[in-house]
Amino acid sequence: MRLAREIARHNRLYHDQDAPEISDAEYDALVRENLELEVRFPHLVRADSPSSVVGAAPSGPLAKVTHARPMLSLENAFSTEEVEEFVRRVRRFLSLGEQEPVALTAEPKIDGLSCSLRYESGRLILAATRGDGTVGEDVTPNARTIGDIPQQLTGAPVVLEVRGEVYMSKTDFAALNARQEASAAKIFANPRNAAAGSLRQKDPSMTAARPLRFLAHGWGECSEPLGATQAEAVERLRTLGFPIADQFRRCDTVEDALAHYAAIEHARADLPFDIDGVVYKVDRLDWQERLGFVARAPRWALAHKFPAEKAETTLEKIEIQVGRTGKLTPVGRLTPVGVGGVIVSNVTLHNRDEISRLGLREGDRVRIQRAGDVIPQVVENLTRDEPRTPFVYPDHCPICGSEAVAEEGEVDIRCTGGLICPAQRIERLKHFVSRGALDIDGLGEKTIEEFTTLGWLHGPADIFRLAEHRADLLGREGWKEKSVDNLLAAIDARVGFDSARLLFGLGIRHIGAVTAKDLLRHFGTIEALRDAATGPDAQAELSAVEGVGPAVAEAIVDFFHEEHNQDELADLLALARPAPFVSNARQTEWTGKTIVFTGSLETMSRDEAKAQAERLGAKAAGSVSAKTDLVVAGPGAGSKLKKAEELGIRVVGEEEWARIVAGATG
Ligand code: IVH
Repeated sequence: MRLAREIARHNRLYHDQDAPEISDAEYDALVRENLELEVRFPHLVRADSPSSVVGAAPSGPLAKVTHARPMLSLENAFSTEEVEEFVRRVRRFLSLGEQEPVALTAEPKIDGLSCSLRYESGRLILAATRGDGTVGEDVTPNARTIGDIPQQLTGAPVVLEVRGEVYMSKTDFAALNARQEASAAKIFANPRNAAAGSLRQKDPSMTAARPLRFLAHGWGECSEPLGATQAEAVERLRTLGFPIADQFRRCDTVEDALAHYAAIEHARADLPFDIDGVVYKVDRLDWQERLGFVARAPRWALAHKFPAEKAETTLEKIEIQVGRTGKLTPVGRLTPVGVGGVIVSNVTLHNRDEISRLGLREGDRVRIQRAGDVIPQVVENLTRDEPRTPFVYPDHCPICGSEAVAEEGEVDIRCTGGLICPAQRIERLKHFVSRGALDIDGLGEKTIEEFTTLGWLHGPADIFRLAEHRADLLGREGWKEKSVDNLLAAIDARVGFDSARLLFGLGIRHIGAVTAKDLLRHFGTIEALRDAATGPDAQAELSAVEGVGPAVAEAIVDFFHEEHNQDELADLLALARPAPFVSNARQTEWTGKTIVFTGSLETMSRDEAKAQAERLGAKAAGSVSAKTDLVVAGPGAGSKLKKAEELGIRVVGEEEWARIVAGATG
C-alpha cells in the first residue's frame, strides 16, 4: 500500500533524519487514514503495517499489560469539612507551619474510563486501560482511532506515559443510542458505559466508528520532570498536544478550591461531558513525592464528589442472599428506575437492623440514592405508615436450613452451616478462583457448582486435585479433551503462585487484596503468618504490621483458631506451594529490615517517616525487640530508646535517618 510506504518514509524523516516534512497533525491524519483503509480492506494489510508497529491487534480477548507505574484510584470526600480535613492531613504529614500556603489544583472528575498512553521517542507505542490498577488491557489499535490522542509528539521526554480519561460527549452519546435503537442494537445505560464498550472492542474499526474523546489529567512513567508543579506539568501536556479540561485551575487556598468546586457544580449541566465531582491535587510535585500513596490512592489527591442522586420507586421483593462467610444479606428488588443516568433494579438493604430502621416491607414506595460507584441504597420509606404485612427476617439459612444467628454485639446474621452450606462453599470457591485471587480461567460459577455437586470440591485444596477426576470429567456432557486439558493446565499454572493472592483467596474476614499484601510484605510466607497468628503474642505481632488494625488482627487469629481451617490450609499449601512474597519496592540494604521510630520527629511526621522506611523496603514496627535493626530516636525518646541501648541496637537521630533515606533512594 502506497500510504503505508509514505508513513514509513515520514517515520524515517522524523526519527532518523530529524527532518520532518509534515506536521504532527498531518502525520496523525495519515496514520488514521491508513488504519481506516486496513479496516476496510484487511487483505491489503502489510506485515510491517505502521498500525502494528508495537504488538499487533490482539485477537481473542484483549491482551493484558502490566503498567510501568500502577494506575491509582482516588479517595472520596462528600463535604467541605472532609476537603478541609484533607488539607490539614497534608499539612500534618509534611509538618508544615500554619501559615505555609498549600496550593491545590482543581479540575472536573470526568466520568469516563482511564487510559494510559505510553510514548517512546515521541511515538505512541502503547495504550492501556486501567484494569485493576496493576494490570490493564492493551487497547493500542483502538486508541489510535481517537482523534484527541496524538500519535506523535514533538519535544516530549524520551519516555512519557500520559494518563487521562477516554469519554463520550453527552450529545455524541445521545446520537449513538439513537443509531443503536434504529438498528435494534444494544442501548447503553450512560456515556461511561458507551465509552468503555467502545474502547474495549476487539476490532478497532468498531472503536473508530464510535465518537470517543480524550482529556489528559496526569502522567505515569516519565523520563524527565514535566515541571515543578502539577499546574506546570499539565500546561506542558497541553503544549505537547493533549486536550486538558477547560475548567482546570490552580487555586492558592482551600477556599479558592472550594469556590471552584461550586462553580463547576453550577456549570455541570452545561458541560459537554458527564462529571461526578472535582479532583483536587497538591500543586507542588516535590510535596506529592513526599506524600506518596496509601493503599491504592495518593495522599496528595482527593475526589470531591457531588451529592448523591435520588429517585423514587417500589420495593417489590426482599430476598436474602448468603455470602461466602455465611453472612445473610437482604437485597431489595425494585421496579427499575433511572437514577443519575443509570437504571437501578436492585439495592442492598445491608442487614436486619436496616430493614427495621426503615420499616421496610414488600410493596413499600421507597426513595433510593446512588452516589458515584457506590451500590444504590434505600434512604427513606415513603409509605411506612400504610398497613402492610411486616417482613419477617429468617432465623434459618435459606440455602442449607441451618440456624442463622447474630454474633455477640454484631448486627450481621450468619448461617452456622459452615462448609456444609453449599452457598458458603460455592461462594468461597468462587472467590478463591476470582480475578484478584488465583484467577483460574475456565473455573466459573457453573463449573464450581457442577464439581461441588459431584462431591469433587469441598475446599480450595480440592481444586489442585481435579486432575484425579480427568477421566470422569471427559465422560461428562460439555467437556471435551481440549477444554478439560485447558482447565487442568490453568490450575497447574497456579502451583507456585503469588502467596499474597492465595492468602486473599482464602476469604478471611477483613483480609482484602491490599491487606493480604501488607501481611506478606511483613511475614514473607503464609506459614510465618500462621506461626505468628497462633503464637502467644499474636495480637501484638499482627498489629505491628503496617495497615493492620485490631479488627483485622482478630479476624486472622479467629481464622487460625479453627482447627479445620488450619487443616485445610496445610493441605492447600502442600499442593499449591505458593511462592514467598516478593516486594515490588526497590531492593535496598534495608529491604526486610525492621525500623522503630521513637520520640518526636522535627522535620517530618511519624507517618512520613514510616512511609520512607517502606519505600526502602523496610518495615516500621511499633516496639523494640531483638528483631529490630534500627531505632530512629528524636527528642523525648524514653523507654524504647533505653531498650534499644540495652539490646545493642543501632540508634540514629533524625538527620542521620534523612541521610540513610537519601543514600538508599538517591
Ligand atoms: S487523577 C493518582 N484526575 O477517577 C490520581 N482522575 O476515582 C489518579 N478521573 O481512575 C487520577 N477525572 O480515571 C484524576 N481529573 C481527574 C479525573 C480522574 C476522572 C478518574 C480516574 C481515576 C478515577 C479515580
